[in-house]
Amino acid sequence: SRIVVLISGSGTNLQALIDACKATDYPGEIVGVISNKADAYGLVRAQDNNIATHALSHKDFNSREDYDQALIKQIDLFQPDVVVLAGFMRILTANFVQHFSGKLLNIHPSLLPKYQGLNTHQRAIDAKDTEHGVSVHFVTEELDGGPVILQAKVPIFEGDTINDLASRVHEQEHRIYPLVVKWFCSKRVMMIQDKAVLDGNVL
Ligand code: GRF
Repeated sequence: SRIVVLISGSGTNLQALIDACKATDYPGEIVGVISNKADAYGLVRAQDNNIATHALSHKDFNSREDYDQALIKQIDLFQPDVVVLAGFMRILTANFVQHFSGKLLNIHPSLLPKYQGLNTHQRAIDAKDTEHGVSVHFVTEELDGGPVILQAKVPIFEGDTINDLASRVHEQEHRIYPLVVKWFCSKRVMMIQDKAVLDGNVL
């Protein structure tokens, strides 16, 4: 399968996917990486691995609608089977989500439906939660609201800083995202009527 990854930043999840794709039996290859920020370090990671990159700045467009249309065009040039959002810090238009419906994956650093949106680690600590985690889900028009495919939990310990917790969550991100992309590429997981289905079972 042809994988396109969208990023805005350091791209450690992209790196995990690049590494996973190196396995000879991995059912997908990353054919392009697109960032809305030209200085995203993830672009360097891609280039170091001879993966095509493209920077498309939202600042060059007058509206979210225009930007997303340009982004659709750019992604379609790579003819992807799956579009993987890996720290792409943009709210997507309904048009965009519909265009890639059923093949758009996101990773969100919380145990959804808890803590949609930003600052999830801080919010979990502030709430004195004892566990936290990460979710990989299909993207639908509802922000961070699409059907969850896989979650990983981590403990929150007394005295944890945001960084302690973030790195504990990141470790799990790097484990579960390549796994879910693998499931998708081998057609074990799919979205049917806005529900995630794994091996024929609704999740
Ligand atoms: C991750 O925490 C991910 O869950 C969130 O954005 C962050 C991206 O990190 N959506 P990285 O760029 O992959 O290191």
